[in-house]
Amino acid sequence: MVTAYIGLGSNLGDRERNLKCALDHLAQAGGIEIVTVSSFRETVPVGGPSQPPYLNAAAELRTELSAEELLTVMQDAERIAGRRPTGVRWGPREADLDLILYGDATIDTERLVVPHPRFRDRAFVLEPLADLAPELEDPVSGRTIHELLLELMRRRSGKRNARLIETVPELREYVDMTVRNRFTVGLIPTMGCLHEGHLSLIRAARKTCDKVLVSLFVNPTQFGPGEDLERYPMQQEKDLRMATEVGVDVVFAPPAGEMYAEDHCTFVTVMGLDSLHCGAARPTHFRGVTTILTKLFNLTRPRVAFFGQKDYQQTVLIRKMVDDLDQGVRIAVLPTVREADGLALSSRNLYLDAGERDQAPVLYRALTIAEERFEAGERSCAMLIDAMGEVLSKAPDFEPEYLVIVHPDTLAPMTTVAEEGAAVLLAGRLGKTRLIDNTLLGVTQCED
Ligand code: PAF
Repeated sequence: MVTAYIGLGSNLGDRERNLKCALDHLAQAGGIEIVTVSSFRETVPVGGPSQPPYLNAAAELRTELSAEELLTVMQDAERIAGRRPTGVRWGPREADLDLILYGDATIDTERLVVPHPRFRDRAFVLEPLADLAPELEDPVSGRTIHELLLELMRRRSGKRNARLIETVPELREYVDMTVRNRFTVGLIPTMGCLHEGHLSLIRAARKTCDKVLVSLFVNPTQFGPGEDLERYPMQQEKDLRMATEVGVDVVFAPPAGEMYAEDHCTFVTVMGLDSLHCGAARPTHFRGVTTILTKLFNLTRPRVAFFGQKDYQQTVLIRKMVDDLDQGVRIAVLPTVREADGLALSSRNLYLDAGERDQAPVLYRALTIAEERFEAGERSCAMLIDAMGEVLSKAPDFEPEYLVIVHPDTLAPMTTVAEEGAAVLLAGRLGKTRLIDNTLLGVTQCED
């Protein structure tokens, strides 16, 4: 049995009756089961002579017929629904049935082309199809129906695709243009695999900057030996589509060799801060981060660079570096975006198996207990840490790496949460996956 999708349309006579009649014929023909039919929707005719509006629908079929046999039954159904030959291409008709997809087959014969050669450009096919199977993949483009529909809408609304730049000279040329035109640049540095957390940064940049630039670069210098550099998730095509969707102007996605020459030997180190907490377990991590960011700031000359509060220690180091080196970039830090159960969004969440994923919100729950106890008046860091430790111990596979309450700027451990507030930083492992999270006590969480 093969799952096939067909499009149906009618713009002459009793349109609804014609479509139902065609579907009845398919259902009775033998070898075809109609799984679902979308709602019928009225659409404006595309191409052909001036003609009345159409009623369109899509249907999912399961069939044991070959694609050619199915086409023959569909043509019979058109005739039975009242279609008469007119000889007018794309002219009005009582019934028009198109085979859009036949499993994941690609067929190109004189009689039949599958996937239907024009379905990606037709909202009257994609819209009802998206009702039935939004995640279904077009075997030719690899895009889902939902993505194809979004792209079509974007093309129609004149939205331009995010421009992909992969080389430093091309990036320099683009940035020179922004300087000449006095455009402000908002930079969102990422390692790709974009998720809602990144999108919230991009949306914020879109509101305040003339040009929004996203970098996708899995920066090798911030990974230590034995870490996940080789298996770090990558999905550049999808990232580009997501970036376009939220109005990014440029995606800078250089290959590693473009950013680091073989003899690269210059690093930026925020001394002291880089060896605390995450830096204790990952000794070269932060110098990799601050080095790549310095390079990206030099190349893109942003007015503002956007980061998530989830990597709190990283944001503290970046602000210190920008101050110390007069880099002249405003660092905007936005709230952590979470799943419904509190797990902070991270590309590394993809590594979690089902059991680990179930336990992963424990970090958030521990931070929430600290917030609640702090609200209730508790100021002793030892007591707050104890309460969090108790919550964490309920997740059998969670192995804490560190749990500290620190000064929000210096990151130095505190014994009592004082006037200036505190940051609660937490890291640990679930299986092979390292997770981090944090919250702020007595200080406003990061700006929105
Ligand atoms: O937070 C990250 O994804 C990375 O550390 C950054 C800031 C993009 C530098 O590679």
